[in-house]
Amino acid sequence: MLVEVGKQITFRLMFAVGTAVIGSLQFGYNTGVINAPQKIIEGFINETWAERYQEPIPETSLTTIWSIAVAIFSVGGIVGSFSVGLFVNRFGRRNSMLMANVLAFIAAALMGFSQMASSWEMLILGRFVVGLYSGLSTGFVPMYVGEVAPTALRGALGTLHQLGIVIGILMAQVFGMDSIMGNASLWPLLLGFTFIPAVVQCAALPFCPESPRFLLLNKNEENKAKSVLKKLRGTSDVSADMQEMKGEHRQMMREKKVTIMELFRSPLYRQPIFIAIVLQLSQQLSGINAVFYYSTDIFQKAGVAQPVYATIGAGVVNTAFTVVSLFVVERAGRRSLHMIGLLGMAFSAVLMTIALALLDQLKWMSYVSIAAIFSFVAFFEIGPGPIPWFIVAELFSQGPRPSAFAVAGFSNWTANFIVGMGFQYVQTACGPYVFVIFTVLLLLFFVFTYFKVPETRGRTFDQISSGFRHNADGEKHTPEELAHSLGDSQL
Ligand SMILES: *[C@@H]1O[C@H](CO)[C@@H](O)[C@H](O)[C@H]1NC(C)=O
Repeated sequence: MLVEVGKQITFRLMFAVGTAVIGSLQFGYNTGVINAPQKIIEGFINETWAERYQEPIPETSLTTIWSIAVAIFSVGGIVGSFSVGLFVNRFGRRNSMLMANVLAFIAAALMGFSQMASSWEMLILGRFVVGLYSGLSTGFVPMYVGEVAPTALRGALGTLHQLGIVIGILMAQVFGMDSIMGNASLWPLLLGFTFIPAVVQCAALPFCPESPRFLLLNKNEENKAKSVLKKLRGTSDVSADMQEMKGEHRQMMREKKVTIMELFRSPLYRQPIFIAIVLQLSQQLSGINAVFYYSTDIFQKAGVAQPVYATIGAGVVNTAFTVVSLFVVERAGRRSLHMIGLLGMAFSAVLMTIALALLDQLKWMSYVSIAAIFSFVAFFEIGPGPIPWFIVAELFSQGPRPSAFAVAGFSNWTANFIVGMGFQYVQTACGPYVFVIFTVLLLLFFVFTYFKVPETRGRTFDQISSGFRHNADGEKHTPEELAHSLGDSQL
């Protein structure tokens, strides 16, 4: 079996997957890129304002402009993630990825030339456009990778999307160092860097095959699909793959597609979609993007001497624990991991609050704040990072799944926006107690998970949904169901 799997890893397959995950890298890069150079770019906004209006910028206007520049990325993400379906079935997966790069080029130009044009509006617009690109990519990449990968490798290759994102964040943090591009003269290059991965992806994509699944099922071009599969697998016998795709397709046709409205109307789906939404909120409202967007500023306020290095440290911890979680998630129960992660994050947030509150008396509390942020990020990657997506995939069968993912994606990006936009205001208002808010939210999500979220690992859709039906009917649980810790009251 191992030999067979080994044989399936061909150069063409790895080339295609590697090219696709450049999209994940771009998403991560643009999530992390505005963190380290915040003070520098704020200086540019300040200067530009002074030139235009002949007066210094009020503190609140600066906070507003910066928060918009950070958070409008997620507005682009919402629009992009909702547009995925418009592209993939019409143009194909590969060509959709190719076309999306137009957005990456436009965004790179807008952000890269914003300083030259003395316009923070271009910066904001560029962040929106690169958000659009990122929203599309988070749909395109996992789909393409899943469809070119052989069944046995689908899980393993699928994790490369996650890995691409965290490596992108880390890259942005390293490039954002003062000595590289995070300084007053080079920050436009730091933001415009998006141009380079876009060029690489555009050069490589024409050599990648279209998804065989798209060719067979959307285009009905069986011969083309076969020849693509032969190249990808490096063998002339691809009948097993073809059989599998056709089988999946038949199953898909048997199950009617469920619309978003039906998800909310039908009692069968109402409880699972509610759980899916809350889990996505638990990921974003945990405060993780307060760290990825603003950690340098947070560390600075916590008296850390080299805040950018601490931010890079957080990126390293993030990458390391993403790798750890790749091995853990497949084996452990989703529900337990999510609860461990939430509790660990809540504990870290308390630690952070103590560090910030005692900072004036004890200087070494700045080191505690570093430890707190590192463990905050580590626990995120164990639970709230990967788990919500796993559970959405496992709560819904083929029919409702696309709609469920659209709703989940929308909830995720919206909460991402709220944190990105609101964090600085809340930080100004609450001072050292800003992380108390995340602690409270994390504990609430912990309680919710404990009472309402079923374990989905190793169970069929029928088993999971029959658990929900019993709840809806108010029927008694069998001991076995209780052992599976299903949610135990009506929602
Ligand atoms: C803007 O720049 C001026 C001059 O460098 C500085 O005195 C002022 O504090 C800055 N304003 C803000 C809100 O950072």
